[in-house]
Amino acid sequence: MKMTKLVILIVMIALALFLVLPNLSWAADDGAGVYKAKCAMCHGVDLAGKPAAKIPSLVSDDAKKATDADLTDMIANGGKDKKAMHAFANKGVSADQVKMVIAYIRDAQKK
Ligand code: HEC
Repeated sequence: MKMTKLVILIVMIALALFLVLPNLSWAADDGAGVYKAKCAMCHGVDLAGKPAAKIPSLVSDDAKKATDADLTDMIANGGKDKKAMHAFANKGVSADQVKMVIAYIRDAQKK
């Protein structure tokens, strides 16, 4: 009897972890997730930007010409002008996540 309770407890814990963990990490684990969570509301799910709101496309020729260093600075620090809506280094986006999101943008630029 005791043993059965223990087994049930372990199964419950495993199930709870299984349900909770993907929800904790979905936004942070890959470039697409970071983009969806932090960028898509402005730059659009298709990365095309919103011309009417002066939000640039990330798949334009200009964006393709920007170096990875330019993009990193733009995303992490807001670029030369220190744009406040960027500066994601201060908003919980790690250097690794910036790299992943740039890889995601580069991928989209090839399509
Ligand atoms: C609050 C809206 C907003 C969010 C959120 C946002 N951006 Fe931007 N982004 C802008 C605006 C507006 C500009 C244009 C800034 C300018 O040049 O004055 C811009 C410019 C850029 C540029 C430079 C493009 C170019 O051609 O000059 C890059 C790259 C970029 N954003 C990437 C990102 C990434 C990656 C994220 C998510 C981590 C993100 N942005 C989140 C609004 C946003």
